[in-house]
Amino acid sequence: MDKIEVGGTRTFRGEVSPPPDKSISHRAVILSSLSRGRSVVKNFLRAKDTLSTVGAFRRLGTDIREEGDTLIISGNGLHGLSEPHDVIDCGNSGTTIRLVAGVLSGNPFFSVLTGDDSLRTRPMARVIRPLGLMGAEIMARSDNRYPPIAIRGGRLKPVTYPMPVASAQVKSSLLLAGLYAEGETVVSEPAKSRDHTERMLPAYGADLKVEGLRVIVKGGRELSPIDVEVPGDFSSAAFFVTASLIIPGSELMVKNVGINPTRTGLLEVLGKMGATIEMTNMREISGEPVADLYCRGTSRLHSVDVTGESIPSLIDEFPVLCVAAAAAEGTTTIRGAEELRVKESDRIKAMASELSKLGVEIEEYPDGLAIRGADFLRAAEVSSHGDHRIAMSLAVAALAAEGTTTIRGAEAVDISFPGFFDIIRGLTA
Ligand code: S3P
Repeated sequence: MDKIEVGGTRTFRGEVSPPPDKSISHRAVILSSLSRGRSVVKNFLRAKDTLSTVGAFRRLGTDIREEGDTLIISGNGLHGLSEPHDVIDCGNSGTTIRLVAGVLSGNPFFSVLTGDDSLRTRPMARVIRPLGLMGAEIMARSDNRYPPIAIRGGRLKPVTYPMPVASAQVKSSLLLAGLYAEGETVVSEPAKSRDHTERMLPAYGADLKVEGLRVIVKGGRELSPIDVEVPGDFSSAAFFVTASLIIPGSELMVKNVGINPTRTGLLEVLGKMGATIEMTNMREISGEPVADLYCRGTSRLHSVDVTGESIPSLIDEFPVLCVAAAAAEGTTTIRGAEELRVKESDRIKAMASELSKLGVEIEEYPDGLAIRGADFLRAAEVSSHGDHRIAMSLAVAALAAEGTTTIRGAEAVDISFPGFFDIIRGLTA
């Protein structure tokens, strides 16, 4: 599947469950691998990114068995990893490279982490600098900026580190390194990023406290294995939710969606744009809040101004929010979103260039976009820029457009959501 055609539709209805959460799946593999004993991870996301983390821990000597979407992980404890015989390929996954760098910083051997063309352009100084302060010998290409990253880990000392940008990957990398440091590692962030690591680490027996924007982990304690069930991924559900709101007459039940408040900023913004989304069947799965979302396309959305404070809780939903804005009445501005330039692609540039092909007027700023909602989107040939979330967002735009849109590089969806296009087809039939 290099390119795919998506036709505009007047029907979008049914019931759907998003795939398992990507962030939680990564963390379940990492923390289970660091525990001493057998953990079971149910409803694991089998997608390219999370399989990069599985591959990394196999290279480090962890026994991971796959039975459908269940993983059985036999961890050897915090100090039970072994020196890899070759470089570790993290593929497209920023979460894999940054979190594994934290783990390897505490391990007394040599390792090299690399990835695909996109990952090798993503900023790594944000983890290299603090991990170096903790005592790891860690360096990277181009003046310590880009992968490959070479690490000789060892005894770490705890640090107090105020993070310059809100990033769950940086926070988690330092907390994982903190497990190896004697004493208290304190990480603080300027705004709350997703908190799955903080929720999961205590379940594995780590000594961790959250005080507002500060997280404090006390190192030196072994982790114990647990059974985890991964809830559905809000970021994947977001494509269905948005599609249902911009295709008139749609009616959709999205089941088993993680609604951790550090992830659901999109729902607040869509609410301000006039959407009504009903949340039902609220429950908890493995320490994470979960619900079903009932969504209908009853009236046209209207524009909104999104500012920097909202960005961390909708960081991965920026592309699909741009699509909602493109179909809304009025001009939406999204600012304070400069982090989006260093994701799997430059998502500000990618959305500006692809939505303009669909007939949307867009102005690009260094930190965001102004998007003038179009009365109708017109089909075109567009590109995913090799980025899974751009591919799926463009598919949502295509469903609301007149005519048939061709999406080049559609195979990128396999990074987080294999089978995405089959599900879309089922909902439009
Ligand atoms: C993630 C954190 C976010 C997010 C990414 C997954 C995680 O990245 O964009 O898709 O699992 O920790 P940043 O930490 O760089 O914001």
